[in-house]
Formats: sequence, structure tokens, C-alpha cells
Amino acid sequence: MNDAMLPGILDAMEDGVAAFDLEGTALCLNKKARSLLHAEEDGIRRIDDLPQPVRAFFGGVRSGQSETIELFGQAVRLHYQDMTENGLRIGAVLVLTDLGEQQRAERLRREFTANVSHELKTPLTSISGYAELIETGMAKDGDVRVFAERIRRESNRMLSLITDVITLSELEERAVMEHAETVDLYAIAREATETLKSAAMARGVSVQISGGPTPVRGVRSLLSELVYNLLDNAIRYNRANGTVSVRTADRTLTVRDTGIGIPKRFQSRIFERFFRVDKSRSKTTGGTGLGLAIVKHVCEQHGAAIRLSSAEGIGTEITVTFPENE
Ligand SMILES: Nc1ncnc2c1ncn2[C@@H]1O[C@H](COP(=O)(O)OP(=O)(O)O)[C@@H](O)[C@H]1O
Ligand SMILES: [Mg+2]
Repeated sequence: MNDAMLPGILDAMEDGVAAFDLEGTALCLNKKARSLLHAEEDGIRRIDDLPQPVRAFFGGVRSGQSETIELFGQAVRLHYQDMTENGLRIGAVLVLTDLGEQQRAERLRREFTANVSHELKTPLTSISGYAELIETGMAKDGDVRVFAERIRRESNRMLSLITDVITLSELEERAVMEHAETVDLYAIAREATETLKSAAMARGVSVQISGGPTPVRGVRSLLSELVYNLLDNAIRYNRANGTVSVRTADRTLTVRDTGIGIPKRFQSRIFERFFRVDKSRSKTTGGTGLGLAIVKHVCEQHGAAIRLSSAEGIGTEITVTFPENE
């Protein structure tokens, strides 16, 4: 590694880092530090240029100490460390942790757990209800089959939900790209089309595939999941006799449908976990509300860009573009 790479590495960090020499001259401030300190590129040249609460912390602190302060209305933890060379103190390093971000992440995790529990409880309650009707002999002979079918359908719903939750938590492990290989998007799109053929037929939707071999760098199982989820939505939120077209070419996958479309005001939200435009339509067709959250995660892991264009009553087009292979 050479020194020229250092600023890039520091800017990639989630914490703010600022270093000063013994005269109090700033040696470096990474991007997060500048953002937390509300400073421009060259806004902080010396310790004296730091905002007052940070200077106050610097005043009486010893190496290794931390303190949480409020900085421009945000909770920020400051940590101070001497910078040494051959045992001699040559400067000071300040690490700034954005607690707001941490607290937000924790809140999201708590909300997710609560949502999953709630979503699991609904099918489980009806499974238990139908089973009880059969058990107590309340179900007439003709009903038993109907109830068994409902029990199976609700169980499948729970299974899909659990599978999606597992996929999401695997995606958060971050190390998934270790299993990357060269994968043909076209072949994956064909497989997904094949798998969803009967679902499409049941809804009277025709699926066309075009383009040609499209090699990208990625994890096969995750890319299958991505294509499957997009295609599944295009079929699920279509109209009778509608069409879906899938195209792969030039590192790009496009899935277009002639369905109900997504209202403008919801377009930025559909990638959120458990967000559905029409909750009952999603549920009665077996959706989990996690499909696009998975798609978004897979794209992030692969460095792929995702674009959505949709018009209510006309249809939706989603494009995923993979980065150029080095
Ligand atoms: N192709 C599409 N056309 C219309 N609406 C869509 C489409 N894809 C997704 N949506 C909307 O976005 C929501 C979230 O999608 P998703 O995360 O796959 O969850 P699910 O399909 O299980 O409800 C859907 O409930 C639906 O309202
Ligand atoms: Mg879906």
C-alpha cells in the first residue's frame, strides 16, 4: 500500500477520523469527520477551527478517553488517542462516532423483528384455528378438505416468509461475494421464467424473454433470487392477458410488465422491508413484502445499479445494470 491510498481508505470508514500534529495543525480529516463537524474540504486547518464542544473535549482529555457530546443537534461520541512514533508523542487522533446512525440501525432492527413476528402470527393463528375445527369435529366432512387446503396455503406463506428472512440475514453477513463467479444472466432469466411458467399461466399472463448471453460477476443463487423476485412481481401485479418481457444484454437485466403500475408517491418506498402498496393484494397472492428488499440488497452487494420507471395503470419497468468486470 502507498500513502496515496490513505485518503481513499479513510473516506471509506463509517467513523470520522481527524489527526493533528503537536502544533495543532490538521494532518487529515476524512469525509465522515468533515460531515459530522460541518466542515468544508479545507474548513478545519487547526485544532482551533474545531467547533467549541470538540475543542472543550480536547482541552482536558487524556489518551484513550471518550465522551459523548451533542454536535449540531446530533449525538456524537468522541474518542481521543495520542499518535506516537517510537514511543514519542507526535500528535493527536480524534475518532468521531455518529451515534444517531447507530441508534437508527438499532431501531430498524427492532422494527424488523416486530414486523416478522406479527407477519408470522397471522398465518399461524388461522392454521391453529382450522386445525381446532377439525380436531373438535366442528368441521363437516365436506369442510375438512377446504380447511386442509387453507392450512397448507398458510403454511406455505409462513415458509416463504421464513425463507426470505433467512436470505436477508445472509445478505447482511456481507461476505457473500466471496462466492462470486462468472454467471450468465440470460441462463438465469430462462430458469426463472421456466419456474414461474405455471404461475403466469394461472393468471393469464404471457412471459417473453429476449436478448442473449450476458456474463456478469456474481453469486448464482442470489442472482436467481433477484431475477425470480422481479419476475414474480411482474406476473403478480399484472392484469389478465397482460405481458411480461425479460431482456438481458450488455450487463443489464430489464423486466417490464403491463400491470397495475406503482403510484409516484410510493416509488421510493417499495424497496423497504414489508412495504406494500396494496397489502391485501400482496397477501392474497402469497407475497411476503420482502422481495424487493432482497433485490435491493443483492444489487448493493454486486455493485449493480437499479432503476425503476412505472406509471399507474400502464406498467412497470425495472432495470438492473451490473458494473464492468475489471
Ligand atoms: N411490477 C410491479 N408492479 C406493480 N407493483 C409492484 C411491482 N413490483 C412491486 N410492486 C409493489 O411493491 C410492493 C413490494 O414488493 P415486494 O417487496 O416484492 O413484496 P410483495 O410482492 O411480497 O408484496 C408490492 O406489494 C407491490 O405493491
Ligand atoms: Mg414480490
